[in-house]
Amino acid sequence: MNDAILALDKVTKTFGHGAATVHAARSITFSLHAGRALALVGESGSGKTTCARMAMREYIPTSGQILYKGRPIEAAKADEIARYRRSVQMIFQDPFASLNPAHTIAHHLRRPLKLHRPDVRGSQVDATIRELLQRVKLDPDIVAPKYPHELSGGQRQRVNIARALAVQPEVIVADEPTSMLDVSVRLGVLNLLNEMKKEMHLGLLYITHDIATARYVAEDIAVMYAGQIVEWGSTAKVIDNPRHPYTRLLLSAVPDPDVRFDDPKARLQPREVAEIRRRSAAQVDEIVEIEPNHFALAV
Ligand SMILES: Nc1ncnc2c1ncn2[C@@H]1O[C@H](COP(=O)(O)OP(=O)(O)O)[C@@H](O)[C@H]1O
Ligand SMILES: [Mg+2]
Repeated sequence: MNDAILALDKVTKTFGHGAATVHAARSITFSLHAGRALALVGESGSGKTTCARMAMREYIPTSGQILYKGRPIEAAKADEIARYRRSVQMIFQDPFASLNPAHTIAHHLRRPLKLHRPDVRGSQVDATIRELLQRVKLDPDIVAPKYPHELSGGQRQRVNIARALAVQPEVIVADEPTSMLDVSVRLGVLNLLNEMKKEMHLGLLYITHDIATARYVAEDIAVMYAGQIVEWGSTAKVIDNPRHPYTRLLLSAVPDPDVRFDDPKARLQPREVAEIRRRSAAQVDEIVEIEPNHFALAV
């Protein structure tokens, strides 16, 4: 916990009031470390984006603390907050909406350099843009002069990654970065994030509804349902030995080549699924340690 770049400590976020209160995040605790990735996994509505927005300081927690290098960000001075904002960069789900159609790719990368990299000036700017594009495995000669609509979804997401890297962040928050991409290019983007994490010692928060992809990028995993993290720890341990019924439910939705789809035993009955959801939504404070670095809420 001590060497974490960014940590959420018992963070809660509610929306609305009275009977209409939504508990979007309930006592969320996790930390991000240099050169490591945490996969935050859960179906739509489980509270993943709320956690991401709190980490980005777009939402202020209802209770609990966000810690930057061990210190509460709430108590930080303006210059520290500015450093934090630069240090934590986001990659969004929609690679189409996040680029301005009126500007070239070079322009998109020049802007963050101008704003945040006083060390890069004059002819260094174009050289840095070339380096950034090469880092994300795009050919600068071809891509830099192009407009967003001339690129594929996968290429655009690579540009978004390059843009995030331009400001030399310590943490990247990637909220479902491949869910709007063609299946054929998803793995390439995940592998790229994995490489960036290792080579640039980035802390990565990889948000996904697809638990099967967590293995490609994340050493650690947190499975979320109804605003709670229900199971967490080493990705391999959680996926190989899931303990919480909701984690098992998520894994049962992943196609298994050994199970025939027409096998009636292969699928949970709707009644069983509803029962798992009902039990998993209850507020639970008791934590079970299943093995070292593998925990779940008691059910
Ligand atoms: N700005 C908001 N105002 C009201 N409710 C919100 C807001 N953002 C999220 N929620 C609610 O919080 C819950 C979690 O949403 P979200 O964090 O977007 O989940 P996920 O990213 O896992 O799909 C949902 O019930 C959602 O409707
Ligand atoms: Mg979301």
